[in-house]
Amino acid sequence: MYDDQSSLPDAISYLMNEAIAARERAYAPYSNFHVGAALVLENGKIISGNNQENAAYPSGLCAERTAIYYAGAQHPGVTITAMAITAKAQDKPTTNPIPPCGACRQAIAEYEIKQKTPIAIYFMGASGQVFKSDSIENLLPLLFTADYL
Ligand code: THU
Repeated sequence: MYDDQSSLPDAISYLMNEAIAARERAYAPYSNFHVGAALVLENGKIISGNNQENAAYPSGLCAERTAIYYAGAQHPGVTITAMAITAKAQDKPTTNPIPPCGACRQAIAEYEIKQKTPIAIYFMGASGQVFKSDSIENLLPLLFTADYL
């Protein structure tokens, strides 16, 4: 846990700034809960995404999956090293770290298993403490994998 964004390593604070910028571009007219995610690849490239909602609610997608599916689509085979996530409610302060939802954890796990190296995950609210998980494994115990198929 980090006290705030300024306590993060420089490269991760930069990544969090990219997530904040993505959050500000979120399309969330129904929930008014804006989420941004940014991930960095082993080659230094940064990819970001945000939540995209839909009038047919379940058709929308979370920020984390928007970002990681883009990485999978555009940069297959390139290792993802870290992901930063930030979320901001429009009607109240968001000062606690906001963790990724279960479906996003499952999606992140798929890529972590595929690449065989952990993805560090940093998440915060709009400001305040930043929680770090060294691997999605810590956030999703007993995960379902392709081994069971
Ligand atoms: N949301 C995310 O983008 N990521 C999460 O991990 C949790 C939820 C979005 C989905 C929806 O647009 C809004 O936040 C409220 O659930």
